[in-house]
Amino acid sequence: MEVKLISKKPDSTDIVAGLWSAAEISKHPLLKTLGKEDLAYLTAIAKKTDFDKGKTEILRLPSNPARAVMLLGLGEKKKWTARTMMLSVRKSVSLAKEAGLETLTFSSSDFTLKGTDRAYTLGLMVQNILMAGYSYLKHKEEPKKGWPEVKTVNLLEPKISAKLTKAFKEAFIIGRAVNNCRDLADTPGGEMTPALLAGAAEKTVKEIPGLKIKVLDEIQIRKLGMGGVIGVSQGSVEKPKFIILEYGPTNKKPLVFVGKGVTFDTGGINIKVDPLTMHMDMSGGAAVLYALEAIARLKLPVRVIGLIPTVENMPSGSSYRPGDLLKTYKGKTIEVLNTDAEGRVILADALGYAQDYKPQIIVDVATLTGAAMGALGQRMSALFSNQEKLLAVGQKIGNQSGDFVWPMPLWEEYDEEIKGTFGDVANIGKTRYGGAITAAAFLKQFVGEYPWMHLDIAPTMTSIEGQYLAKGAIGAGVRFLVELARQYK
Ligand code: BES
Ligand code: ZN
Ligand code: ZN
Repeated sequence: MEVKLISKKPDSTDIVAGLWSAAEISKHPLLKTLGKEDLAYLTAIAKKTDFDKGKTEILRLPSNPARAVMLLGLGEKKKWTARTMMLSVRKSVSLAKEAGLETLTFSSSDFTLKGTDRAYTLGLMVQNILMAGYSYLKHKEEPKKGWPEVKTVNLLEPKISAKLTKAFKEAFIIGRAVNNCRDLADTPGGEMTPALLAGAAEKTVKEIPGLKIKVLDEIQIRKLGMGGVIGVSQGSVEKPKFIILEYGPTNKKPLVFVGKGVTFDTGGINIKVDPLTMHMDMSGGAAVLYALEAIARLKLPVRVIGLIPTVENMPSGSSYRPGDLLKTYKGKTIEVLNTDAEGRVILADALGYAQDYKPQIIVDVATLTGAAMGALGQRMSALFSNQEKLLAVGQKIGNQSGDFVWPMPLWEEYDEEIKGTFGDVANIGKTRYGGAITAAAFLKQFVGEYPWMHLDIAPTMTSIEGQYLAKGAIGAGVRFLVELARQYK
């Protein structure tokens, strides 16, 4: 999809007009110059349309039926927030695609957010337009007339300043990174093994000066003493990899991003009943990869390290077993009580490795627990931290970026629930309650004293009805990490 910033209204494209009420039609920047007959027609229909309830109409102009106008109901004005704005933008693109409209023009002032600058609104618009336009089609035969696709989106901005142009370009980089992340996550497990994920990372990095990569193989992983990664991977014929990405000046204290890269999670010996979506269990790893890609393209003045331990969790004669004791990178042992709680086991090594960089902060992103989905539903990720003040910081980053997170508790009392009997830390809690919290309490044992945020993105791994995003992965974590890197200098 092409997205363009324009300062003059084009003559012949389809139009999206965001509206609160019918009265606005005659003043709307994209509609006011239409002929009398067209305006009268639009107004008559608009009068019967509840824009304040989000009702939307796609109409053909009487003077030229080849041109469509979408009268997009924006809902209740007093409920207008960055969140509802992003949803409205995505909805319009999704409806346009369904209706076969190919070139759209928006007037970006329709979507203004009070108390923020135009650059911010414009950035969110661009990102969400790109996200709404995406779908994973690689394995489907293209119909003769091609896939329905919004090919071009024009954003009308009467005064294009240097600041707006910059925000526009940056948002394009971020939106594209989110979609690239979705591409990797949507790829079936057989085509996205640890080796192929590492290969995809290498390919991505090659295109970007300033971004470096090192991929550790099984022998090196074993040599480093990463017993967690080795343990989880040993049931699969696919060898583990440990991907290390580096960006920025070495004299700065880094941010270290860690992403769970389980390319397929069968559960292992504690086999899952329904592993259908578990090719997306590397979504955290993909988010870290594309966050670094975007950060490098944006040339942000930070140092960032990305760590992606990647494995396949399979049941076989060589699998790790319930009861196994695995020695992690920093020496603590994990008592494996359930082979399906594998994400935290590989993250334990990566979080330990993260400490070696003496980071400003460690942030991990992982499709870690079904329990997080039970707690929050599927509209936001769960946020944990070992420093309570970081919860507010994280929630704000989530709200600003549109990659929403919700703060969760991590009192030290929870540590009791993951004490091991024969090893230092057990990989599941003692009861069936609070599974997202016990998983976070587990990870906390491996970050030392460093400030740390943990995003459990299991809730936001896939899209749901009403989000106006294609079925499959939604790229959770990318926007969050990029915004965090913007704010941490
Ligand atoms: N990858 C899963 C978590 C998951 C579930 C992500 C659904 C996305 C959607 C993780 O490895 C897992 O299996 N977790 C277990 C933990 C349990 C054994 C303590 C779970 O959530 O059931
Ligand atoms: Zn699992
Ligand atoms: Zn998993």
